[in-house]
This record gives sequence, C-alpha cells and structure tokens, in this order.
Amino acid sequence: MTAAARVTARGWGWRHGDRPRPAVSGLDLDVEPGERVLLLGASGAGKSTLLAGLAGVLGDAEDGDRTGELLVDGRRPEDARGRVGLVLQDPDGQTVLARVGDEVAFGCENLGLPREEIWRRVAEALEAVGLDVPLDHPTSELSGGQKQRLAIASVLAMRPGLVLLDEPTANLDPDGVAEVREAVARLVADRGATLVVVEHRVETWVDLVDRVVVLEPGGGVRADGAPDAVLGSRAAELAAEGIWVPGRHPVVPRGSRRADAPELLVADALAVGRRRFGERQPRTAAADIDLTVRAGRTTAILGPNGAGKSTLGLTLAGLLTPVGGGLTALPALAGRLSPAPIRWRSRELAARIGTIFQDPEHQFLRGTVRDELEVGPRALKRPESEVAAVRDRLAQRLRLTTLLEANPFTLSGGEKRRLSVATALATAPAVLVADEPSFGQDALTWAELLRLLDELVAEGTALVTVTHDLALVDALADDRLLLAGAAAKEVVP
Ligand SMILES: Nc1ncnc2c1ncn2[C@@H]1O[C@H](COP(=O)(O)OP(=O)(O)OP(=O)(O)O)[C@@H](O)[C@H]1O
Ligand SMILES: [Mg+2]
Repeated sequence: MTAAARVTARGWGWRHGDRPRPAVSGLDLDVEPGERVLLLGASGAGKSTLLAGLAGVLGDAEDGDRTGELLVDGRRPEDARGRVGLVLQDPDGQTVLARVGDEVAFGCENLGLPREEIWRRVAEALEAVGLDVPLDHPTSELSGGQKQRLAIASVLAMRPGLVLLDEPTANLDPDGVAEVREAVARLVADRGATLVVVEHRVETWVDLVDRVVVLEPGGGVRADGAPDAVLGSRAAELAAEGIWVPGRHPVVPRGSRRADAPELLVADALAVGRRRFGERQPRTAAADIDLTVRAGRTTAILGPNGAGKSTLGLTLAGLLTPVGGGLTALPALAGRLSPAPIRWRSRELAARIGTIFQDPEHQFLRGTVRDELEVGPRALKRPESEVAAVRDRLAQRLRLTTLLEANPFTLSGGEKRRLSVATALATAPAVLVADEPSFGQDALTWAELLRLLDELVAEGTALVTVTHDLALVDALADDRLLLAGAAAKEVVP
C-alpha cells in the first residue's frame, strides 16, 4: 500500500498570466495524510486552479505568477508528479485508448513499471472501482458512469498518495453518480490516499468526507471544518454566496405560460442516430419519438446516459439528419423555408433554432468573450448599437462582465457553460435546444440562469432541454419526454 500524502499551503496564490487578478491568493491550508476533503466555492472561486496547482500542471512563470508555497509531502507538486492523480469532469475527454485494460495500464507504462506489475495493478484498480468488464472491452462502449470509474481506476493504478477529483459526476445521470460515489467510497475506505473532491452538489459527497473547505473567490479559505459544523452553523452565509447547502437550495418561481402556444416543430415516429468514424451507416440511438415543440413552453428530454438524448437534441436543432421518421418545422418557425431544418443555411438556422452544446468548447469560435458574444448578432447583420446592448445584457445576467477580455478556453468550468448559454441566446432564436444548460453552476449562478431561461419561455421562446438536473426540470418543464434507450420511449404526463 502507498502512504497517503500531506498537503501544505502557506500564503499560496496563483494569477493566470492573462488575468489582472489572482484566481487564488493568501491560501493557508493543511490536509493531513488520509483526510477526505470536499472543496467548495462559487463558480470561478479558484477550485480547479488549486487542484491544478496540486497536480503540478499550472505551468511556470510564463503561464502566470505564483506566490507563497504549495507542497505535497513537503515537495513542490512538479517534483511529486507520480504522487498525485487528477480526475476531471468530462468522462469522454479523458479516455484515450480503445480498450479498458490498456487505458488503465497507460499511466503505469509512463511510470516505467515492469509488465507483470502493471497488469497486477490494472486488475486491482478495476476491482477497486468495481468496474467488472473484460480487459479488452472497448472503452467507447462504456456508459458515462463507467467511463468516469475507468478514469479513477487509471489514476489509482499509479498508486497516488493524493487523489484529486474535479466535479467527477457533473455530466452523469443519477445511476452514474451513484456508481462513481460508490467507487470513491471504496477507495477512501482504506485511507491509503488523501482525497480532495470538488463538486457543487454537496449532497453526493457530504457523508463520505471528514472535512469541508470553502474557498473565498480570489482569496484563501472562507470556511473550514467538519461537514456538520461548516454546513450547519454557517449555512445561511454560505448559501447566500452560492454554496449548494443541503436544505437551502434556491427556488425559482415559474413565470406565466402562454395559452395560445403555436406549434413550431413536430417529430413523428422520428429516429435519430449518428454515424461513427469509419462507418457508412448511422447507428440508431433512439427511435419512435413523437414530440411537438411549442412556442412558450419547455420540454425536458430525460433518460440515462447513452439513451440518445443529445443525438435527439442535435437532430431537433437541425444539425443532424434524421435516420427515420419525420421532423417538420411548421410555418410559424420555418416561414418560407423548407420544412426540414437540416436543409437551412447557418444564418437561417441562427434566428430560428439556437443550440447549447453539451460540451461548451464546441461552441467557441473567437479569442475573447466579448467577440464570442458578438458573433451571432453580427452574422445576422444587427446594428452595432444592438450588438453591444445584447452583449452587455447577457454578460451582466450571466456574470461574465469582468471576463469580457478573457479567452473563452481559459474560463472556469461554470464560466464556460454560462458563456455558451449566452452565445446561443444572443441571436434570440425562436427555439432553444439546450443540452445540460445548468451543469457546473453554483447556487446563485444556477438560479440566475434558470430565471433567464424562464423569462425567455414566458416571452414565447420554445425551450427543449436535455438534462439530468431534476431541480431544473421541476422549475421549468411543461412537458417531459423520457428516452429509455434505443427504440423505447415513453411520454410522461
Ligand atoms: N487557464 C486559465 N487561464 C486564465 N484564467 C483562468 C484559467 N483557468 C481559470 N482561470 C480563471 O481563474 C479563476 C478561477 O477559475 P477556476 O477554474 O479555478 O474556478 P472554479 O472555482 O473551478 O470554478 P467553476 O466552479 O466554475 O469550475 C476564474 O476567474 C477563471 O476565469
Ligand atoms: Mg472548476
């Protein structure tokens, strides 16, 4: 067994090179070997920056300014690389190899371990996360929760003394969340590693950790102690700052809905699918879908990871060709255009159907937040005064005003999501297809985002949202569509 690592911060801070202010400053923190810490803080507070610092991947003087000291077992993290394992939020982005066994072995191979030792560790790590599939199982055929457990196994195989998890369940359905939680519970049970987990939704982890540390945006530690103490005595104060304190979740009142909602898009026995790389025929992801999208209403598309929800979203958005059945845009939406949205040119689409992609980065086209917010309105040849007004209004509503000169790819996870929502809204589309619009938000930005979406729906926008966020469904959904895997579906009244 490996010894658990100790973390020490003394007046530590980091300013990302292109930013005027530090992301973290004056941080004093001691984490004892084997401790299990839940790290909280508002979106943009510096949580991921601290994890990157501990993993030794922030870079050097060219990338930013460091102050104070951050140590793992008394050494600079850059000199303690094998001791620290970092798992990020996106299960897809972290899987590099085709087979499960090779994926877990990859990190150990880089450590230069002997072959027998590597495969012993691979088996042990897969066992530790409860991933019971053959070593040659294709990684592309794992569910989101399985992929995330695979990512954790890959880190464990290197036997790190410090395990860092950055929003490991943000993109998972409830089953996936439970799987990952279970895997982490097993790994921390032996206290063989120190654990720091970042997640906005506190409930998932609060019973598994011994300590909660709340970061002050741009500063050091705001609150620190046993979970009950921090989330109990300071609940009101922390909730007011955006921490998802259990029992104090924000409530977003639902605005009025129009009675005369015209139909905009009709799916009739629609089948959706995507062509995989190297294949000639698309694979059907979901079939037999009947759905009517109406102005001024919200439809939530629900179902487990892998049920075809995002594929349906992209098809409704006019970005994928249906593989069967019909998808018709009615005159209230299409005007004089073809009734098939896939035939529309991008400019025609922009004013009619906007898309918020599951991965925000897929939406970024420009070098600054400012330009990103202006792209859509400019493409529609809106007057300059309107372009500026739309940009400033959306930046303000989505808390991006201080980030207008930042590069979109350098934003925090929650900031990226909010920018991708803002860019989709900037062209005021009649239909908004939003894939997981609320992930990665603190309680304040979440509530603000929902109020904004609710206002749009009350004004007549049709919102179609793919989501695992049941609080969003409760707050906004008028209609629900449950996808239960290929060829099965059920409409929930
Ligand atoms: N690579 C980077 N380059 C420049 N600035 C960055 C970079 N990464 C983060 N930042 C900025 O540093 C600040 C802290 O970001 P960080 O990602 O650490 O926040 P976070 O607490 O993880 O937020 P979230 O909950 O939204 O993920 C933010 O202002 C962010 O825009
Ligand atoms: Mg983050």
